[in-house]
Amino acid sequence: MQKTTVNSWNEWDPLKHVIVGRADDCHIPPAEPALDAKVPEDSDMRGQWGRRPQDTIDEANELLDAFAAQLTKRGIRVDRPTPINHALPATTPDFHTDSQFGCMPPRDVLLTVGSEILEATMSYRCRWFEYLNYRPLLQQYWEEDPNFRHEAAPKPRLTDADYHPDYLSDKIGTEKRLQWAAEKFFVTTEEEPLFDAADVLRFGRDLVVQHGFTTNLKGIEWLRRHFPDHRVHAVNFPGDPYPIHIDATFTPLRPGLILNNPGRRLPDDQRKMFEANGWEIKDAAQPAHNTPPPLCYSSTWLSMNVLVLDPKTVCVEASEVYQMEQMDRLGLEVVPVNLRGAYAFGGGLHCCTADVYREGSCEDYFP
Ligand code: ARG
Repeated sequence: MQKTTVNSWNEWDPLKHVIVGRADDCHIPPAEPALDAKVPEDSDMRGQWGRRPQDTIDEANELLDAFAAQLTKRGIRVDRPTPINHALPATTPDFHTDSQFGCMPPRDVLLTVGSEILEATMSYRCRWFEYLNYRPLLQQYWEEDPNFRHEAAPKPRLTDADYHPDYLSDKIGTEKRLQWAAEKFFVTTEEEPLFDAADVLRFGRDLVVQHGFTTNLKGIEWLRRHFPDHRVHAVNFPGDPYPIHIDATFTPLRPGLILNNPGRRLPDDQRKMFEANGWEIKDAAQPAHNTPPPLCYSSTWLSMNVLVLDPKTVCVEASEVYQMEQMDRLGLEVVPVNLRGAYAFGGGLHCCTADVYREGSCEDYFP
């Protein structure tokens, strides 16, 4: 078997090695402050928790396996995590919750920057131990690649001081949520640094990080100090009443081109660095569905949660006809991938993967 090299500086260079998540034993976790703030008020998930129904786990695993096989066929090496027992409670001296989440999606936990893979702090109690699903792989990479830097951000305490109690009601209403999002008043406080890896997009020397429910300003500051050779930019999207994870909101496709969720427009002052360097920010096509599938955390905008294989080729979910058409018009070759049946496990094609190796080096796209 070929030895690992860890290297990935952006979201679009030719992909050669990737991790694809697994749905095994995934749970809907019990109520906890940050998770409740995210579950839509009209969601079928409110008030229930426990292991996800076995038939949905089986279906999601079939789709993830098929996606992994599709990538392998294109010459991309695919690794899979080793699921821990997610039925076990998560207990630390500071908190207790009765179950964990799962080993989907890897993008939320692992941030690859160059030859480093950084385990995020995470901001939900049920996801505190999620890195353990990836430790066998990270250990293997560490043995095989003498330049691999395996890093872990300081584990947060996640006491009640980390969460604004205002968000604990399930009757906040969209209007209030949008007002809070515009004021950058999110469920997480500034008690300690918090970030999920999926709030970060990599543009070579620049990291673009969403400030929202799962990443606070101290988390962004922590990333700035941790990556001293990078420029770290905080962004926020006031149109999103549930701002977690940037990858159904802002999707770079290749140098110079980004899709933005039309309902979650990047504010003018934050567009400057892109515009000044000739980058185009285009509205993403509409999703093909009116509602997410059952028991799903995400919105219908997983339509734009695509996996770029190289600057000319992109994986798009196979039912997202408008998104596929748009990619076609933008001159990209589309690889349709059937994944909607796995959306409930935490996301789409970008979410359910984590980069290990993309060709290319660290470029400055915003000189
Ligand atoms: N917040 C996004 C939406 O529902 C979903 C993002 C999922 N991304 C992820 N990496 N888990 O629109």
